[in-house]
Amino acid sequence: MRQIFFATPGNEALCRSVAQQIRAEEGEAAIRHFPDGESYVRLLSDVSGRHAVVVCTLDHPDERFLPLFFLATALKEQGAAKITLVAPYLAYMRQDKSFRKGELVTSTCFAKILSSFIDELITIDPHLHRRRSMSEIYTIPCKVLHASGTIAQYIRESIPAAVLIGPDSESEQWVSEVAEKADVPYIVLNKERKGDREVTVSLPVMEKYAGHTPVVLDDIVSTAQTMIETVHQLLLAGMKPPVCIGVHPIFAASAYDELKSTGVSQILSCNTIVHPSNKIDVSKLISDHLIAEENGSRS
Ligand code: R5P
Repeated sequence: MRQIFFATPGNEALCRSVAQQIRAEEGEAAIRHFPDGESYVRLLSDVSGRHAVVVCTLDHPDERFLPLFFLATALKEQGAAKITLVAPYLAYMRQDKSFRKGELVTSTCFAKILSSFIDELITIDPHLHRRRSMSEIYTIPCKVLHASGTIAQYIRESIPAAVLIGPDSESEQWVSEVAEKADVPYIVLNKERKGDREVTVSLPVMEKYAGHTPVVLDDIVSTAQTMIETVHQLLLAGMKPPVCIGVHPIFAASAYDELKSTGVSQILSCNTIVHPSNKIDVSKLISDHLIAEENGSRS
């Protein structure tokens, strides 16, 4: 089934890059807002019997969701045989438990809604914390891609004598993988979160890594408080100015400027979310998977 690519607003560059790498057609759709804020969607390409691949990363999900839903509905109504959503950043994965009476587990609820109108989901390093796999909450096939190889390659080529720093125990899963692929040492810190913007981290003795460049690696950078606190502790311990790498650079409100002012040497991110810190390109990760999937379905 021939693929045809569509981007929701803001995802055009990544969509084009993936489509070009796999020599797929880019479809045309007009998606905009009316002056009153409502969404307008018009499909301009013939999608009948086609496999539509929609690229829509899901930071700021509440505002991105309706245009995605309308586009998917239009694709289905006009005969698309299959809809794959490429959401490099998948939102609503963090509230995976009801901590207080009455709290909605939004990860399950969001998964239910997405699963109802998409046929397949491809995402990168989703925040699987208390869940072990996507199938615990999603009822559609989900492919989880990992940016670890791409990040490791960047570190190997661009950051000499790196030591990877995972800010909390959850980060060990990706930090250990990147460290192994980049062939560098890593340590994982202890983090305590007391509120949205209140985080403490504790550092082990760092003497052994005195000549190294600390590279703080986290999956999501939201308020950046986790990174900011980690950078403070590393500088207090006499380490070189750290490099910070985020897989998903949300950088809410003034988080990016706050992190920049801590004395970091560089802030880098993957382009799972468009941000000035984007330096590590995940388009090939996505296109390689789509090519493999297409070849697999033909054999
Ligand atoms: C924690 O569970 C995640 O892996 C990140 O450490 C967290 O999302 C970072 O959030 P913030 O930037 O708000 O500290």
